[in-house]
Amino acid sequence: MFGHSWRAGVNKIEQIKAEKDGLDVDADIARYAELGWQAIQESDVERLKWWGVFMRRHTPGHFMMRIRIPNGITNAAQLRAIAALAQRHGRGILDITTRQQIQLRWIQFEHVPSILSELGAVGLVTLQTGMDNIRNIVGCAVAGLTRNELFDASPVARAFTDMFVGDRAYTNLPRKFNVTITGCRENCVHAETQDIALVPATAELGGRTIAGFNVLIGGKNGSGGYRIARPLDVFVRPEEAAEVCSAIVLLFRDHGSRDARNKIRFAFLVEEWGETRVRDTLEARLGRALDRAGADERLPEATNHVGIFRQKDVSLSYVGLAIPVGRVTSEQLKEIARLAVAYGTGEVRLTPDQNVVIPNVPDPKLGNLTAEPLLKVLRYDPSAIMAGLVSCTGIEFCNLAVIETKARALKIAQTLESKIHDGKPVRIHWSGCPAGCGNHTVADIGLLGVKAKVDGQTVDAVDVFVGGSSGPQPTQAVKILENVPCDTLPTVLEGLIRYGEPEKLRRRLRAISTPPLTPSPAASPRERVDDAGRRPLLLKDELPDGAGKALVVNGHEIAVFRCAGTLYALLNQCPHEGGSLAGGAMEGDEVICPLHGYGFNLKTGVCSTDPRLQAKTFPVVAQQGGFVIDA
Ligand code: HEM
Ligand code: SF4
Ligand code: FES
Repeated sequence: MFGHSWRAGVNKIEQIKAEKDGLDVDADIARYAELGWQAIQESDVERLKWWGVFMRRHTPGHFMMRIRIPNGITNAAQLRAIAALAQRHGRGILDITTRQQIQLRWIQFEHVPSILSELGAVGLVTLQTGMDNIRNIVGCAVAGLTRNELFDASPVARAFTDMFVGDRAYTNLPRKFNVTITGCRENCVHAETQDIALVPATAELGGRTIAGFNVLIGGKNGSGGYRIARPLDVFVRPEEAAEVCSAIVLLFRDHGSRDARNKIRFAFLVEEWGETRVRDTLEARLGRALDRAGADERLPEATNHVGIFRQKDVSLSYVGLAIPVGRVTSEQLKEIARLAVAYGTGEVRLTPDQNVVIPNVPDPKLGNLTAEPLLKVLRYDPSAIMAGLVSCTGIEFCNLAVIETKARALKIAQTLESKIHDGKPVRIHWSGCPAGCGNHTVADIGLLGVKAKVDGQTVDAVDVFVGGSSGPQPTQAVKILENVPCDTLPTVLEGLIRYGEPEKLRRRLRAISTPPLTPSPAASPRERVDDAGRRPLLLKDELPDGAGKALVVNGHEIAVFRCAGTLYALLNQCPHEGGSLAGGAMEGDEVICPLHGYGFNLKTGVCSTDPRLQAKTFPVVAQQGGFVIDA
């Protein structure tokens, strides 16, 4: 069709695509709206997914519509339009998905044409959100706002989206294709699960330090198993990033297998070829050599942006609200839109953990915003359990589901909340079947729906996975229990959480995995002992003003800073959640933790964000030629 010789396809979907491009079903949408949904041909049921319209066999005559929201960046006008559509045609419920999109439910086919045009009027499309397409480009929900990004990568996500949406060069891939593009250093996008992940990196090119991306490829979830995306050993500048993504997708289009659908995601081509051949072919396609990977700028841990955080502009904050299992009512969505206008700039962001962020709230308005009734339900300060809860659709609407997920996930989380009152946030992710749409493999605790037999009765149960994580050292959650009846989950999960199993297992997994390619300088402190084996020494001019670094002193990891000529030493472990303070920026007499942006006084360690916290400090004593830290 495009003058390319693709691999021959044998599966049913290949035949459907060969007959007619999915995008070309638009002419039939109006016709089916007239004739009624029973008239829809089997092949068009598939093609409609190119238009984001999904027949739900569980609820005959009702459809799900998936709205593409690049980088999760939306606004009050769009949300009001979506809420109104849900109210009128969708029984007043909506789901925020793990690809930062919104799904309408209970749609009757006769309303599809008007819904498409009403969405279009506010700049939204549903195009290419299902089947063998490039799915919504996932990006950091606080791109351009957070202090913890290398740079704002959302324009790249937008540019790439504009390149492929509506373009038939990209609408017949062998299989679905997931991309994330992020400049955020906090690993909030599950990079390891994507076919392409562009993650923040710096490279020394032409004598200058350039901020751009390292490229990871071949991650996946779902049928055929989980694969962690691997480094392609390529650095791309922001201005060439969309073009490189496009070339990788087209390489997959032309060379990917089109046989058994559970063996043809891009990951399998990467495995068959190896990274070197992928890179060589890509360079040939682009007609130029690509730079080799730069220094990985990701921080060690992951966050989800729920809570109140100062933005780059220090007079503004963003407020991340936890949406339990991503389900909102149209009333709630309308209210979110109202709050965004009343307290912010009307902008709203959706996160890959199914949550919502209201950006640009000035300090004087924060108090009133947090007192709004909606924030008692969709909380900025959720419990440790609710903060990390994610669930796929499950049996309520999904024909592949083995068990019910969303309502059950919520109920079990509420029970756990009442039992566990303290501790770190726990990320519990539910997937209702092995497709793994709930990203259970990257969670602290991942639950995968199965059926089990108890006393001869078939009951809903789960396999329990533990210890997954995102970031520069990603770990794949390991299955530790099988066929656990859902009824027993509150007790089982309480035990796992109380005894810290996810963290223990993650540490063990990291210990046996290979070290990251390029550890960041701040993350690899050196033991300091002077020549005579006496106390550790910091040379007089070693640290320029405004800089920090990590040292190991007598077995303690210490962050040392120079501010207005004076040296300060703090334990290099943020009292909030263990962030590496040495990697933080200095503001006035404070260091700002790179993980969540809490500020700590350099001299006293007192936290200005949460006064209950205090970082441990150590005296720095001048000695001949330098300084010693009294640790
Ligand atoms: C065998 C592979 C897969 C199949 C057949 C499949 C199919 C489906 C179906 C039928 C739904 C439910 C639609 C609804 O909500 O009514 C769904 C939802 C979804 N899928 Fe998949 N899926 C697969 C793998 C994946 C993978 C690997 C991901 C990415 C991690 C993914 C991401 C999603 C997302 C984000 C949703 C919306 C769920 C939510 O957040 O509520 N899917 N998928
Ligand atoms: S994981 Fe399975 S049950 Fe859940 S949405 Fe995906 S396909 Fe459906
Ligand atoms: S770890 Fe959260 S602010 Fe430091």
